[in-house]
Amino acid sequence: MKHLNTINIKNMIIKNNIRLFILFIYFQKFILAANPNPVFGKNGMIVSTSKQASEAGIDILKKGGNAIDAAVTVGFALAVTSSSNGNIGGGGFLVASFANGESFTLDHREKAPEAAHSNMFLDENKSIIPGMSLYSQASSGVPGTVDGLIRALEDYGSGNISLREAINPAINLAERGFLLSHYEARQLNAYKNFFAENKAASKIFIKQNNKPWKQGDKLIQKDLAKTLKRIARYGRDGFYKGPVAELIVKEMKRGNGLITLKDLQKYSSKYRSPILGTYKGYEIISMGPPSSGGALLINMLNMLENYPIDTISWNSSDYIHIMTEVERRAYADRAEHMGDPDYWDVPVIMLTSKKYAKERIKNIDLNKATPSNLISASKRTNYESPETTHYSVVDKWGNAVSITTTINLGYGNGCVVEGAGFFLNNEMDDFSSKPGTPNAFGLIGNEANAIEAEKRPLSSMTPTIVLKDSRPYIVIGSPGGSTIITTTMQTILNIIDHNMDIKEAVCATRFHSQWLPDIIQYEPKGLVKDVKKNLQFKGHKLVQRNGYIGEANGIIITQDGYFGGGDCRGETTALGY
Ligand code: GLY
Repeated sequence: MKHLNTINIKNMIIKNNIRLFILFIYFQKFILAANPNPVFGKNGMIVSTSKQASEAGIDILKKGGNAIDAAVTVGFALAVTSSSNGNIGGGGFLVASFANGESFTLDHREKAPEAAHSNMFLDENKSIIPGMSLYSQASSGVPGTVDGLIRALEDYGSGNISLREAINPAINLAERGFLLSHYEARQLNAYKNFFAENKAASKIFIKQNNKPWKQGDKLIQKDLAKTLKRIARYGRDGFYKGPVAELIVKEMKRGNGLITLKDLQKYSSKYRSPILGTYKGYEIISMGPPSSGGALLINMLNMLENYPIDTISWNSSDYIHIMTEVERRAYADRAEHMGDPDYWDVPVIMLTSKKYAKERIKNIDLNKATPSNLISASKRTNYESPETTHYSVVDKWGNAVSITTTINLGYGNGCVVEGAGFFLNNEMDDFSSKPGTPNAFGLIGNEANAIEAEKRPLSSMTPTIVLKDSRPYIVIGSPGGSTIITTTMQTILNIIDHNMDIKEAVCATRFHSQWLPDIIQYEPKGLVKDVKKNLQFKGHKLVQRNGYIGEANGIIITQDGYFGGGDCRGETTALGY
């Protein structure tokens, strides 16, 4: 995108909606063709959105690598085979829990550039400039994935797998190319007009002679291969310094981008305190701020623990009603209280407290919806005690890694860094550009999540590990913006309360509510007529989504072995050995 023009951006948004609709129609076919059985493995399991990435991870496990080695390998491979989401131009969160009881969480979320400020997406009348936080170079935060993956490998890898070995599969996939599946070809075709807006994206992702991609075509990414080789050779400096960093800054200068060489050099991923909670005796380890995912997940599970969820029919109107009431209370607190903990004092102890959850549900009426305008965030109290992708990995020792990574919307802001071959994120849209104005996911926010120099935008990513008898039991997470948290929660409830296996749990239909807008969103064919009628009778507004909700990729660990389940909504691959 050479310049920011309001009409172009509006057209782009409309075109993007059409693209999403086409993708939805296509995804439907995968749901119908779903294989209902979990994949079994005795020694290791990888579940990701890409066959080639899962294969690369399994090879590393077979070579003696641990779950971290394999997760890093999968992460780099996804940058090649799943450029719409798993990209080195973005960021993510990693949650790990080892069989020896050790656990950690690593935040490699993008950061606002040093020159970013709270008014950067507003015009002289303090109105939002349409599309600027999504479809311009200014929408990019400083990418964190490369730093995060390298840090995890150095600090927690087995020591048997070098950075070069972890990146080699990605280099080969980029340099020699990989064969597109039917779905991947269709997806690239659906985004053709979007790619056409950017010279570097057109060169790589629009087929020569302008013909449509088809199954079996080879996608070669020479520039990306060069970038990956530099990372393999020079480590983080191969990305945050030297030619790749210079190309990123050059891309910024083609538009209104703010990322400088200094921003890139200064970027550092951070270990954060894991968010801990329990649900019916199971321990939950999830991601803390700057993601809202873990705290909201535990807050909602704490509220739900007060209801006999396991005896209420799954996805009945009573079930969805309770869930919605809990969700609107949790998301109201998210909007007010959550942001980057380096800039804002997030009341994590309050949000994860069982006592707070009990108080928060006091005004839930089991027969009637509470309009969201009657719900607001709680006052901060000092309680004592306390288009994204997800992949899950377990190794033969029972160590588990749960990673969600994103460049925000599908193919980020559409800007491929010319000469470096990867899409840049549009994560700046996850900030609250203006108090009370919704972002791309309809989420609103306040001062806690206002744009500030070098701050991280609030995320909903919820990579999570559930422990049973103190050992990893469920490894789970999902893409889906604001729906990530409720998708992760519903999947956990499907397993713990409704005895589903991992494949059933990730494929089961889902619904979502988030305080504002005051609606329950449901998937196509997701609710039967009776349930809809009863929910409307209780006062709920229902909206069918154009597309499906999330793509949860999970693993259940048992004494017999590992069961992997890729979500039927996408072309996911669970591989065990
Ligand atoms: N970009 C979506 C999220 O981080 O929640």
